Amino acid sequence: MQYYISLSLVIVLFISLKIQTDFIPHTDEYNNNPAGKELYKDFGCTVCHGNNMEGTDIGPELSGLHKYFNVDELVQYLIDPTAVMARKDRLQELDEEFDAVEMPSFGDLPEEELRILAEYLLKNE
Ligand code: HEC
Repeated sequence: MQYYISLSLVIVLFISLKIQTDFIPHTDEYNNNPAGKELYKDFGCTVCHGNNMEGTDIGPELSGLHKYFNVDELVQYLIDPTAVMARKDRLQELDEEFDAVEMPSFGDLPEEELRILAEYLLKNE
């Protein structure tokens, strides 16, 4: 009798665990690292670049960035956009196109978090 009780407990436990894990989204459903996505929202990038990096009237779409930056360069850009822009014609053109606001510096945020964010941005095709 004891045996059956513990066996059914194990089964109930197993089923509830299974149900729970079914609700945990898989990373590829996000298409990206969820932590990066959270940082993107927490740092307020959405205000100018849109909830899904699609761009707004005041900030460009953030896609295909891997064609222009590696992780280090992108972190550098987030820390000091003006300095990086001075070296890249493409960024100067973007600056003219979106002249209502400037890309702000995020240099006071922990570099480790900027790195996670940069990796996330680079995955957006
Ligand atoms: C106040 C509006 C604003 C906010 C907030 C903002 N940006 Fe920008 N961002 C811009 C603008 C405008 C540009 C275009 C370049 C310029 O004008 O300096 C830009 C350019 C960029 C670029 C270069 C795009 C390219 O095609 O090379 C990246 C990358 C970027 N932003 C990432 C971010 C991230 C990540 C955040 C949040 C940590 C963020 N931005 C927050 C306005 C903003």
